[in-house]
Amino acid sequence: MKSILVLEQEHENISKIIDLMKNKSIEFINNKDINVEFVELLIFILKEYADKFHHRKEEEILFNKMQEDLGRIGEVMILNGMLVEHEIARGIIFDLNQSINDYKNEKSDENFVEVIGNLMGYKRHLQKHIEKENTVVYPYGKNNLSEERLEEVEEETIKFLEENKELHDDLMLKIEELFNL
Ligand SMILES: [Fe+2]
Ligand SMILES: [Fe+2]
Repeated sequence: MKSILVLEQEHENISKIIDLMKNKSIEFINNKDINVEFVELLIFILKEYADKFHHRKEEEILFNKMQEDLGRIGEVMILNGMLVEHEIARGIIFDLNQSINDYKNEKSDENFVEVIGNLMGYKRHLQKHIEKENTVVYPYGKNNLSEERLEEVEEETIKFLEENKELHDDLMLKIEELFNL
């Protein structure tokens, strides 16, 4: 299914970004200084790509149908599982944003360690989340949704990608930029 392949491809892109977050955190610790420009662009990408482009697509298309059609298991898996985890990810981005602003105002050890903690917290959280989706949630949806529902997932995903092509290309450029900071 193209729609699932697209989601998995996005996971690969996000995984590269979170690996970079770890490497950059090590660099910041060694330098005893945080590259604020990097963290600010990172926050933009996590909000616009990982959250709005990827999580929103999951929520509005595949997860929406799983939650409606797959009974109690679908409900628990999506509502109590994946959607809660998306909210936690949003919370960590909020905290990261707050901590980098504090660091900009005062380069104290405390503000430094808060930024590093949020970077690593997001990395750990998203890594586990992606693993669950790749190995449990997507296969469960693919194997249990009706042909008709899967067809809707395909159509809606293709429509979303066509409508957001410009945004997608722009975000890819921003990600490239992030790797060069
Ligand atoms: Fe997700
Ligand atoms: Fe995902």
